[in-house]
Amino acid sequence: MSKALKTYLADPFLKHLYQEIRDAGSMKSISIDLTHECNLRCNGCYYFSEGMDVTQSPTNEAEFDAFIEQELVRGTNFVTIVGGEPSLSLSRLKKIYDNFKMNVSTNGIIPIPVEGLERMPIGVSVWGNHGTDAEMRTAGKRDIFAIALKNYANDSRAFWYYTVTPGNAHEISDVVAQCVANGNRVLFNFYSDLTNLGGSVDHRKGFKEVRAEISKVIIKYPDSIYLSTYLSEVISTGRLYDQEWGYNVCTTISENNPVNAARLTNGNPYSPHFRAYNADLKTTRRCCTGIDRSCDSCLDVWQHFSWVMVNMKKHLGSKQEFTNWLTSMYLFYLINRLVDYENGVLHLTEIHNRVGVSAFTLINEEMILV
Ligand SMILES: C[S@@+](CC[C@H](N)C(=O)[O-])C[C@H]1O[C@@H](n2cnc3c(N)ncnc32)[C@H](O)[C@@H]1O
Ligand code: SF4
Ligand code: SF4
Repeated sequence: MSKALKTYLADPFLKHLYQEIRDAGSMKSISIDLTHECNLRCNGCYYFSEGMDVTQSPTNEAEFDAFIEQELVRGTNFVTIVGGEPSLSLSRLKKIYDNFKMNVSTNGIIPIPVEGLERMPIGVSVWGNHGTDAEMRTAGKRDIFAIALKNYANDSRAFWYYTVTPGNAHEISDVVAQCVANGNRVLFNFYSDLTNLGGSVDHRKGFKEVRAEISKVIIKYPDSIYLSTYLSEVISTGRLYDQEWGYNVCTTISENNPVNAARLTNGNPYSPHFRAYNADLKTTRRCCTGIDRSCDSCLDVWQHFSWVMVNMKKHLGSKQEFTNWLTSMYLFYLINRLVDYENGVLHLTEIHNRVGVSAFTLINEEMILV
């Protein structure tokens, strides 16, 4: 252990977080599309934008079971489930839950039953207030946010996976208030305008106002927000010390896919076990969220978490920097229930206190008077 690390860990709070992560052990993760089907067609969904549904789920259950066996033998211990809409394939969702640590994203229309799936981390997607969400995800026809609120009211497994857009920052406080009143916590995600809709959803406009609004809700609901100001800053600016976000530093790329050969040997750290399986559960693609889309548009939260997590050494310059790294690690482990969840959530307020808000994102003094 380096001298700096030893000094920082003399702080009992940091030592506790560090120890919990160590006890949880290292992760060998993959992502899978549980099904290629979906009951929505959201504007600019990365899955359909690149035609990822051309690869289809196995119809034969024995093939699905063989995939689980294959990954257990390979040592996989964590599965991120995306797609397609996973709630359309509930029996297979349970099989993954029964065999691995995991998390799942859902649009929230079909509730994931509690029985037999009591501790599943479920990210329920929402893209804005009732009007914006309905407009972007159903051309204004259905209030999906209202349906999902009802389906996951006071469900401690569920957190909102709130995809924010630059021009709709003003909606954040109201949307988060509804999510918190519904008995759920909130993780933010940042929209990539893959189909060039422009206007309020254009990620190229930057997320300055969004960051300020995220800071406000952290101050207001510190025990309910899963994203720290540090992560918010790293994701939305694409900067991590001397590195700029993009393919050359991205860590979650399929290790077995020839398209990544040059990246895997460029010297930057990566997750050596990771594979992004297509719905056929045989082939992999470049990464979870892309086949050959431009990485300039990538603001994916989970991939940025990994970027921070593999770069501990960069964060050893001061106690504050180490705190930024350690709390990012801890939040990832907490959201995904890799550490004691019930006790872990009690640390959320202290985590936000330690990372702080003013150093990063407040545009003006007014912002803290919420
Ligand atoms: C492809 S979806 C699959 C799971 C499920 N159908 C859902 O919507 O949650 C996985 C996640 O990607 C997010 N997503 C899709 N397209 C996106 C985009 N262009 N920018 C940012 N997030 C996006 C969704 O909101 C969702 O949280
Ligand atoms: S519900 Fe999920 S998979 Fe379906 S279109 Fe929307 S973001 Fe894409
Ligand atoms: S799209 Fe994002 S996750 Fe995929 S390779 Fe590019 S930077 Fe990485």
